[in-house]
Amino acid sequence: MTTAAISRAATAARLKGLKCRECGAVVPIGPAYVCEECFGPLEVIYDYDEIRRQMTRESVAKGPRSIWRYLPLLPVSEDCIVTLHEGMTPLVPAPRLGKELGLRNLWIKNDAVNPTYSFKDRVVACAVSRAKEFGFETVSCASTGNLGCSVAAFGGVSGMKPVVFIPHDLEPSKIAGIGSYSPTLIAVEGNYDDVNRLCAEISATKKWAFVNINLRPFYSEGSKTLGYEVAEQLGWRAPDHVVVPIASGSLLCKVYKGLHELETLGLIGPVKTRVSGAQGLGCSPVATAFLGNKDEIVPVKPNTIAKSLAIGNPADGPYALDIIRKTGGSAAGISDDDIVTAIKLLARTEGIFTETAGGVTIGTLAKLAREGKIGKDEVTVAYITGNGYKTQEAIVPTLPKPPVIKPTVKDVEAVLGR
Ligand SMILES: Cc1ncc(COP(=O)(O)O)c(C=O)c1O
Ligand SMILES: [Zn+2]
Repeated sequence: MTTAAISRAATAARLKGLKCRECGAVVPIGPAYVCEECFGPLEVIYDYDEIRRQMTRESVAKGPRSIWRYLPLLPVSEDCIVTLHEGMTPLVPAPRLGKELGLRNLWIKNDAVNPTYSFKDRVVACAVSRAKEFGFETVSCASTGNLGCSVAAFGGVSGMKPVVFIPHDLEPSKIAGIGSYSPTLIAVEGNYDDVNRLCAEISATKKWAFVNINLRPFYSEGSKTLGYEVAEQLGWRAPDHVVVPIASGSLLCKVYKGLHELETLGLIGPVKTRVSGAQGLGCSPVATAFLGNKDEIVPVKPNTIAKSLAIGNPADGPYALDIIRKTGGSAAGISDDDIVTAIKLLARTEGIFTETAGGVTIGTLAKLAREGKIGKDEVTVAYITGNGYKTQEAIVPTLPKPPVIKPTVKDVEAVLGR
């Protein structure tokens, strides 16, 4: 057998199909995303007995320093992997931030240092690799900015053609970031939900791989690696509490799924992790439902500086809400001013400069800590999912202008106030 045939056979052995999250119907692996019976979303299902044979703590440790060390738990064949060495980002202790918030066991998962500076490289690596495996020639997406950057980068190196759709009013640094990879970039008059609707229409007529539409079941699996890595980096144990930003709600659901898969495989002990969700106050449909004790998530028109989280009608919102409730987690909506304060707090205390989504996460962490909703000794992980250089506009107006001086010691001493 060739290497490719061996890797396809291993994939076939561990992937059982796509299962509807609503009615449980199962269909074969293919570029499908909604159930034909009930229109529910489809999810990849695995044969965990087979994966137990393919994966141990030792085999993971010998794997690459990227998300691909967990290949048996990802829906891709080894010979089709498209990688920019994404993942295995630092999990760092945060003692100074912890001290300010009264938390004695706080960690930051710094995913702002991925190849295109956000966690989206994890999901896009999975989706683009799968698109290649399915034989697509074009990869596309509707993006709030970070996803577009990642699709442009991975699409470019994969040999497929990247086409990125964005809302026209994205932050200039995100537009520049996407443009640098030379994709076809199209700005749409409307918000993310409008762009997403447009892309869903296009996907019905063009044979393109829309990573977050027709490849969504494969794409979203990449986020599970943020659960795996944290458990491995903590010495193969689940954290007690995680704080996760919510846009569509997929990341939160997959961190939960990832931790529970490791438990199923016997790689970690019983998972009791409490999962809390973070949103910007101007786009907080999940936090609002949680705090109002409602089951229904009411869509909103986003108005927040956290544009990467500005999805007013989150596809995975109900599932995220359910996980927050059943794990005993919590949720919060953070105002624009508090997002900026939190960005600066993280930078000052731990030297990590995050984008507005990270401000939402740290703002939520601080709020929940103040309210006593995070235990002082809980092993708590806050997920920082994007880099501060992507949303400089958010903090520039709040920073003092540096004094401009002549290159003399006298001038230095004058500004130092001596
Ligand atoms: C920086 C950042 N963090 C978190 C998220 C949330 O992702 P999800 O849509 O999976 O909830 C996004 C989504 O765009 C993002 O860009
Ligand atoms: Zn169904």
